Amino acid sequence: MRIPQLLGAALASLTLSTALQAAGVSAVPAGRLLASNCFQCHGTNGAGPGFDRLAGKSANEIFEEMKDFQAGKEGNGIMAKHAWGYTDEQLRALSTWLSQQPKTALRSAP
Ligand code: HEC
Repeated sequence: MRIPQLLGAALASLTLSTALQAAGVSAVPAGRLLASNCFQCHGTNGAGPGFDRLAGKSANEIFEEMKDFQAGKEGNGIMAKHAWGYTDEQLRALSTWLSQQPKTALRSAP
């Protein structure tokens, strides 16, 4: 593909995603992309198995715990490293998304 064609394709996909956003349709819900970093240790959608379950906890509680991790007031350092990467706005978005997830862990494939 030549550069003008590449640019055309990139512009078309940009226009499509802008149109989807304008229509209130988003391929990835707000907060999910940010929270996906947590799934490795807290389970898919934060519902375990793994370390403490996050799914279904109150958004405020998750947010406050993340702020405590950032401040070094809690944990053994693993969570602080993760918490540092997020702004308050991003923490609110991922906390809200996690709070809305079902508490039941997804069953793994047989
Ligand atoms: C590398 C593994 C790992 C990842 C990735 C991770 N965590 Fe954790 N998380 C832990 C561990 C371990 C603990 C237990 C506290 C500690 O030892 O620091 C914990 C504890 C927590 C707690 C406190 C739970 C409680 O009930 O006390 C919250 C909230 C939390 N994590 C949120 C998150 C969020 C949000 C993300 C994604 C941004 C995330 N974690 C990513 C390992 C991880």
